[in-house]
Amino acid sequence: MSRSQPAGSPLQLHHLVPAAAVVLVTGCTGAASVLEPRGPRAADVAGLWWLMFWLAAAVYLVVVGILAHGLFRRRAAPAGEDELRPAAAGDEGAGRAGLTYLTVTGVIAPAIIVLVVLIATIQTMGAIAGPATPPRMSVDVIGFQYWWMVRYAHRDVTTANEIHIPVGEPVELNLTSVDVIHSLWVPQLMGKMDLIPGKTLTTWIQASEPGVYWGECAEYCGVQHARMKFLVVAEPSEQFAAWLAREQQPAAEPTDPSALAGFQAIMRPSCIGCHTIKGTPAQGQLGPDLTHIGSRRTIAAGTLPNNRGTLAGWIADPQHLKPGNLMPDLAIDLQTAHVIADYLETLK
Ligand code: CUA
Repeated sequence: MSRSQPAGSPLQLHHLVPAAAVVLVTGCTGAASVLEPRGPRAADVAGLWWLMFWLAAAVYLVVVGILAHGLFRRRAAPAGEDELRPAAAGDEGAGRAGLTYLTVTGVIAPAIIVLVVLIATIQTMGAIAGPATPPRMSVDVIGFQYWWMVRYAHRDVTTANEIHIPVGEPVELNLTSVDVIHSLWVPQLMGKMDLIPGKTLTTWIQASEPGVYWGECAEYCGVQHARMKFLVVAEPSEQFAAWLAREQQPAAEPTDPSALAGFQAIMRPSCIGCHTIKGTPAQGQLGPDLTHIGSRRTIAAGTLPNNRGTLAGWIADPQHLKPGNLMPDLAIDLQTAHVIADYLETLK
């Protein structure tokens, strides 16, 4: 026991409350909290979470109250007499009261609580099973170790690690994987859904407010599972339509000398064998589509912000930044990496 808390002093509750508050606040808020839903699906799940939280809090308080009562109540008889005393007439009544008390706290109350949670869970499952109105658009999301291909098949648009959706309307998601099982999770918009190789699962997503929402892989899928993130960009429908129209265009022609040098450098087989740049000979399908990489917010599936420095660093040594990712070290010197980054930055 420490000097500041002498033996026998009561528990210093005012020390514990701030500590607990810090844990609660830092643990449950932030950019991607399920407790800050921004869509109808996530709001239903958050509602169920809060119901369970308050029920659990009430049960905890009752149990602590009973425990405190048992610990601190005054004993009617002097200590030591209880065990030896012969049975008295009042004992039978006390026994019956104890049995009723046990039945209520141990059987009836838990049964009611479990029933309430069951009904609320079934209701929530029904509510999130499908959107209120049928989706008008669908997006294919394909899992790769360790990034996401995002395809708008009806418009021949393919991008990576960013799912753009119009705000306020449901969008169908068709999920599959090319390698192992991944799981798509956008805490503020929707719960988890697996991406399974050889199988397509359909789900839906909806944002009620414009914004950029973090998503991540929620199924361990290999060494870089933790760096398999993505963004959901929810925009007003005109902005979304403009984005989609831009994405449909082929890659911009390089104009300045550095970008032109970068274009020539990236047209080597080791790059274009894996990546597509629409409108150029690059038609690979193993890595992310780079046609409009300059307009994306991050590189390496949410690992790094997208800028000239991170792009060049990635090209020069991808295994240093994300060890175990499937882009091999191509021994590209730093100067070449910089001109390639210059070219990629122009691909808006
Ligand atoms: Cu993909 Cu974890």
